[in-house]
Amino acid sequence: MKAIFINGSPRKKWSTYQMLEKAMEGAKEAGAEVEFINLYEYDFKGCKSCFACKLKNAKTNGLCAIKDDLRPVLEKTLNADVIVIGSPVYFYFNTGVSRSFMERLMFPVLTYNPKINEETGELESSLLDRTIPTAMIYTTGAPEEMAAQEFKHALEVNKHFLETIYGYTETLYTYQTYQFTDYSKYDMMEGVEEVRRKQRDEQFPKDLKKAFELGKRLVEKANEFQQ
Ligand SMILES: Cc1cc2nc3c(=O)[nH]c(=O)nc-3n(C[C@H](O)[C@H](O)[C@H](O)COP(=O)(O)O)c2cc1C
Repeated sequence: MKAIFINGSPRKKWSTYQMLEKAMEGAKEAGAEVEFINLYEYDFKGCKSCFACKLKNAKTNGLCAIKDDLRPVLEKTLNADVIVIGSPVYFYFNTGVSRSFMERLMFPVLTYNPKINEETGELESSLLDRTIPTAMIYTTGAPEEMAAQEFKHALEVNKHFLETIYGYTETLYTYQTYQFTDYSKYDMMEGVEEVRRKQRDEQFPKDLKKAFELGKRLVEKANEFQQ
């Protein structure tokens, strides 16, 4: 059982990383072999629309045809039983780098020639022949109510595609993250640091626990799906 954790934050030790690290610990506890990828260490761009993956008799088998730094990561995702992607929210969406990654991850396993599932009668547009539990973990500066009002609906798009392609997905948020080690150096509205500190000390540990449970649950789900 292999679980892969993708950090779509440029910061290697901050909130997104910490949430992913906990999810990874949970996955390990459930018996998975785990791997952690910091996307910002890789030199790559998004889908180039070459359509090599959509050719008749394409030999790509779900793998993006572009041969660059990202290729080994994408190969690993094809062999993974669990995929977790973490990203900060930047301008109401996941980071551009994580988005470029997701284009390269998902487009090659999406077919333009969907088949009808004889049991359900539904069109199936995923090339994958098994359910792979996936999750998105988002970290935000906004409080929960603001996030719900302003951008959580937009991020449902990721949920839709992950569910369509991999068959199972979950979403976890942590809000109002602590952004700096020393707030006194930054030009910031009064009172913000206090709110963020309270959040960091009281809520963030609970969210880390949720991340741990998420990682564990996804591996357990993968075991169930593979039985
Ligand atoms: C370029 C940029 C844009 C951001 N845009 C938003 C936003 O639209 N909504 C939000 O809630 N937080 C926003 N934030 C705050 C981050 O989402 C938040 O600090 C996040 O937890 C950072 O993740 P990290 O700790 O892994 O670096 C933004 C931060 C940056 C740097």
